[in-house]
Amino acid sequence: MNTVITGLQWGDEGKGKIVDYLTETADVVIRGQGGNNAGHTVIAKGTKYVLHLLPSGILWDNKINVIGNGVVLDPIGLVSEISRIESQGISITPEKLLISDRAHVVLPFHKELDAAREISLGDQKIGTTKRGIGPTYADKINRCGIRMADLLNRPFAEAQITKRTLEVNEILSKFELPTFTPEQVISETFAAFERLASHVTNTIPILHKAWKDGKSLLFEGAQGTLLDIDFGTYPFVTSSNTTAGGSTTGTGLPPTAIQEVIGVCKAYTTRVGSGPFPTGDEGLSDYLHNLGREFGATTGRPRGCGWLDTVLLRFACMVNGVTGLAVTNLDGLDEYEELKICVAYDVDGSRHDLPPADRSAWDRATPIYVSLPGWKQDTTSCTTYDDLPPNAKAYLKKFSELCGAPITFVGVGPDRVQTIKV
Ligand code: IMP
Repeated sequence: MNTVITGLQWGDEGKGKIVDYLTETADVVIRGQGGNNAGHTVIAKGTKYVLHLLPSGILWDNKINVIGNGVVLDPIGLVSEISRIESQGISITPEKLLISDRAHVVLPFHKELDAAREISLGDQKIGTTKRGIGPTYADKINRCGIRMADLLNRPFAEAQITKRTLEVNEILSKFELPTFTPEQVISETFAAFERLASHVTNTIPILHKAWKDGKSLLFEGAQGTLLDIDFGTYPFVTSSNTTAGGSTTGTGLPPTAIQEVIGVCKAYTTRVGSGPFPTGDEGLSDYLHNLGREFGATTGRPRGCGWLDTVLLRFACMVNGVTGLAVTNLDGLDEYEELKICVAYDVDGSRHDLPPADRSAWDRATPIYVSLPGWKQDTTSCTTYDDLPPNAKAYLKKFSELCGAPITFVGVGPDRVQTIKV
């Protein structure tokens, strides 16, 4: 079975854990978009691993992990991630980790450009992770980016980097931000690239061979549908297609290679960064933060928390073609008295079952809720669906009906074993 795992909310849905769970039966785990803005926390055998660019399959022996062409790769960030994971006892060899030669390179100045853009937006800032993701994708689309294959040809790469650094310095100077010498960018980039060069290859024929040989492929989505550049809450989005389609354009495998799409979502909603959040709720945020939950894996920022929003999830299930829902963090709601679910928005007196494209409508979108009784019971040791309290099952049933997709997994804790297969 070839499976896409995609986030259905604003990222941080717990995809890392579901990927890790499904990796057991996968042969190849592939990232097709995003960069080290992503943060996947996986807890395996009591050890916590935080992954940014590395596919979650890296924690297993004998799995192939691919960073596809659609990813933007920061060599400095990846090398420090590799060192950190290796220091936790995981070996990362060229046989285990393959990097597409078509992946675009995040250069040090992209991070400064990210900061410059945020400054210029003032109180309209996106709240980016400042990892240089948007500017690197912008260079890709603007056809002035550097790809991993270019770094294999050092004289060519040096000329390209020099040209682009000088152009970028003009923008940075305007914002009184630090500028770069081309030599600095080149030396920092190549110092890191040395560790990565043996991993860089044309991943497309390798992936096609794996597909034709009947290997099981797992596409690991990063971020979430509402951060998708096309389908998200634009402009408060990331710069890639985080939805299922990104798994094909970002890897070179065709849509016909995909057999199922698992949509991962929390039992409630969270978001970091700026932008619309109709079901955001201070009481629920305080409650979850007091439990020590909902702090970002990449930045440590507290995430805003809110009630389940099935307007957004219904849309996310549509655009991704979700065949099964993986609901995570159900245990986060264990002690809550009464749970709300948003079923539609009221915008200026008219009912919306799907999110608006008009960005000004978000400010006027008032959630229409239904309320369900909580279960007030610890679910963390439930191992089957039947073990769950009746009110938790009723909540999940309503959830599934409103989203129009069946539930296939329920997460009741951070460990690999706390995942119920439905
Ligand atoms: P960027 O991807 O750093 O450009 O940030 C754009 C938006 O996406 C910001 O709101 C970020 O907080 C958000 N974002 C990016 N990556 C993630 C993620 O992995 N989880 C949650 N939010 C993310």
